[in-house]
Amino acid sequence: MFNQLNLSPKTNSRILKLIDAALIIRRSRSISGCILFFYVLTHLLNHSLGLISLDTMEQGRAIFLRFWRHDVLFYMLYGALSIHFLLGIYALSRRRSFKMSRKEWIRNFCAILIPFFLASHLSVTLWGSRFLGLNDSYAFMIISTYIFDPFGYIILGLMLLVVWTHGSIGIIGLIEFREFYSNQRGLFHGLIFGLPLLAYGGYIRASIELSESSKNSPIAILEIISNSNFTAEIGEKIVSLSDLLQFLIYPILLCLFAAFYFFRNLIEKRFNSIQVQYTDGTSLYVSRGSSLLEASQKAGKYHESVCGGRGRCTTCRVRVTSSLSELPKPNKIELAVINRLEFDQSLRLACQLRPEANIEINPLIKLANKDRQNLRFSNQENLSGVEKETVIMFCDLRGFTSLSESRMPFDVVFILNKYFKLVTDAVEENKGRVDKFIGDGVMAIFDKDETISRNCKNGLKGAAKITELLNELNDELSNENIDPLRLGIGIHCGNAIIGKMGYGDASSDTAIGDTVNVASRLEQLTKDYSCQLMFSSTVAEKAQVDKSKLNSVKTKIRGKKDYLEAFYCGSATEAINAF
Ligand code: FES
Repeated sequence: MFNQLNLSPKTNSRILKLIDAALIIRRSRSISGCILFFYVLTHLLNHSLGLISLDTMEQGRAIFLRFWRHDVLFYMLYGALSIHFLLGIYALSRRRSFKMSRKEWIRNFCAILIPFFLASHLSVTLWGSRFLGLNDSYAFMIISTYIFDPFGYIILGLMLLVVWTHGSIGIIGLIEFREFYSNQRGLFHGLIFGLPLLAYGGYIRASIELSESSKNSPIAILEIISNSNFTAEIGEKIVSLSDLLQFLIYPILLCLFAAFYFFRNLIEKRFNSIQVQYTDGTSLYVSRGSSLLEASQKAGKYHESVCGGRGRCTTCRVRVTSSLSELPKPNKIELAVINRLEFDQSLRLACQLRPEANIEINPLIKLANKDRQNLRFSNQENLSGVEKETVIMFCDLRGFTSLSESRMPFDVVFILNKYFKLVTDAVEENKGRVDKFIGDGVMAIFDKDETISRNCKNGLKGAAKITELLNELNDELSNENIDPLRLGIGIHCGNAIIGKMGYGDASSDTAIGDTVNVASRLEQLTKDYSCQLMFSSTVAEKAQVDKSKLNSVKTKIRGKKDYLEAFYCGSATEAINAF
């Protein structure tokens, strides 16, 4: 359709991205959830002011209201609430299995309880204040709960617990692979566990303060009620709305949901099921539209899914061993992973693929429980890694094969060790770390400085230092009649997954991803351009190199659509002269 509009391929792909339903739904849910979480966060901070005094709490509320009851924010907040609620129902309705991780169970259980608690709260704070003219001050809320309705007080506490638990699990799910979260994990956990305690503590303290002062001056209670514009008629309206929502509409919705699941399962079992066959012989029927991950869960099979089915970890990947022709096309989330990791057509993500016909699969990451315990991964971060902007360097000796053929093995080991030492010294001196030795090649990561710009500079300085030390080594070797060693270095920066990978004693912190592949490719290209160093334009920009002093090339990197601009120099020292 867009082709008829004569749009450029780039615009075309942007539009297609915009209209990708799965992505829109996921983003809308995340964005609306973030808005709601921010609202709850500020609300709880306001409650916490009760630890100082009721007056401070009311002053905080005035600021809170000025912000959240501003027309724009008011509609944004309740828009987000409606979107989040509807998308939550949609997500639950798509579920084909209730086998979930404990965290998911808690999050969904809280989500189901929230409308019940929210119904009475919104009847007062939204319906009462916005439409009936009620002034829902803290003093009024305390009187209507702590003093006159202790049960309502407990309900408020439970509401706080389920809302905060649901929100916190959701927010952590969004940021758990981010670098700032893993760096500040203690701070986040402190906030998550500490804030509700402070908020409830603040509310209790303010309630005690008001109840003590009302003992000395009972008239104060009447004054608060009269200032709140509360009348028996308003009270009746609020209670009847709250009762209607909590004890009629909410149970009806739950029953409708249960009936929906029951009849859908019945219909799908009869008319709409497909067979999922595993290569180990397991086979089951699932309803069309289920994801393969849900099928595994339904079958009670352990299926790795570190990111919880959000298409971010690839640990759920499977190889499809039956016909590929009937597979649905990957959605945008899956497509991004497939393109990035260059999966062949038979490799798919089980959490994203919803087959429409019988299928045979082989889950590729198989960690039995026993093996999982043996792994030296102590937490999610180690198992899944964190995505981080990183500078990767590859360094490789040229012509080393012929050298090793012409020298005694002892000499070869001696030379190699000298070379490894000089590379390690040069890298470490410039705030990098050697990640691994691969034959006569070295992969190094520069991520110890605070900014990516400084890490890029460190990478280039490290390359120059390698050259300097290599020249010294060559002088030494020339006395022994050994031809000078030559090398090629490639440097690139970008997002890479950093984490502990491997097994048992052979596990180490390393980096994987596109950035690593591109750096390796640049190193290989130094052979074609007879140069010592080649680095991407991203590195050049971040390190603020004067590009006019360097040779540039536009090169095709395997698996990438666009050409990559890179800069190269005969000697790595030229790069730092261009700073
Ligand atoms: S579970 Fe992480 S990508 Fe599928």
